[in-house]
Amino acid sequence: MVSCVTMPDCDRDKTYWSSLAYAYGALGPPLRPTGADIAYMEGAVAAWAGRHPARRTRALLLGVTPPIAEMRWPPGASLIAADNSFPMVRAVWPRDLPRSRVAVCADWSALPVPESSCDVVIGDGSFSCLRYPDGFRAAAAEARRILRADGRLMVRCYIQPCERERPEDVIADLLGGAIPSFHWFKFRLLMALQENTERGVAVDAVYRFWASQRVDEAALIAQTGWDAQAVRMMELYRGKDTVYSFPTMSELRRVLGEFFAETAISTMPRTIEGSCPIWVAEPRSDMRQATMALGAAACRS
Ligand SMILES: C[S@@+](CC[C@H](N)C(=O)[O-])C[C@H]1O[C@@H](n2cnc3c(N)ncnc32)[C@H](O)[C@@H]1O
Repeated sequence: MVSCVTMPDCDRDKTYWSSLAYAYGALGPPLRPTGADIAYMEGAVAAWAGRHPARRTRALLLGVTPPIAEMRWPPGASLIAADNSFPMVRAVWPRDLPRSRVAVCADWSALPVPESSCDVVIGDGSFSCLRYPDGFRAAAAEARRILRADGRLMVRCYIQPCERERPEDVIADLLGGAIPSFHWFKFRLLMALQENTERGVAVDAVYRFWASQRVDEAALIAQTGWDAQAVRMMELYRGKDTVYSFPTMSELRRVLGEFFAETAISTMPRTIEGSCPIWVAEPRSDMRQATMALGAAACRS
């Protein structure tokens, strides 16, 4: 049984998420985490728990990503998943477990969790679902509010590569057989079609660009052997008002750095292949000091 705690954004029909809910099984990396991503998150959580042996880890998941819900959590850990799409919670959440795992329908800017009550806030691609910078700032402030001073934020992020791609180059790579999956193609096209991070990229614009290219989907599927359902998932973007935001590493650090100090990063996002780093950070004790050289660029040699 799922409760809708924060109603305004629950069940918005025009979001991509309500239609993704029923096709989620066909989604693949990088739009969901790989086994290596989950292993990295398990390691980061285990390291935190190892430093706090007397505490039962209390975690909050930004979204309902099943592999995170089902990853190896320390003994006695509990997890609350917060997502503002009721269809996603109903269709994708693995299920509640008594006393250790529960999902709530809530917005990340108003989490139904007391101040300083969590040890870990974790998420997969969560910030890219928000508008930059205000949505990032609101969710980061809320994560900071609910985390204990010695807690950790761990989020897999979608980051623009140092050298921005052009949509026509992504299409050329697709037709040249240089892209490993349709999910990777869609991800690269999303990134390439974003003009700037503040504006983000509307999924409907990505659908319209794809339709304008008149790629023969049946021939593409036959040539590549890709899952037809994965290719047809582009249709789910059509007419939806969802906007993704893909910051550079400097932009992400600038806003999240107002609330958190980076402690680890799984990979530096220089190329498109490395553009989904897991960012691990601790709450800042004095948030006013946060204007430091957070721009410390991933793209500087
Ligand atoms: C975490 S993200 C990315 C998907 C992810 N890569 C995965 O594997 O599931 C997707 C989820 O975020 C939810 N979401 C987007 N914006 C939200 C917000 N402001 N508050 C709460 N949930 C939100 C969507 O409903 C969707 O279920």
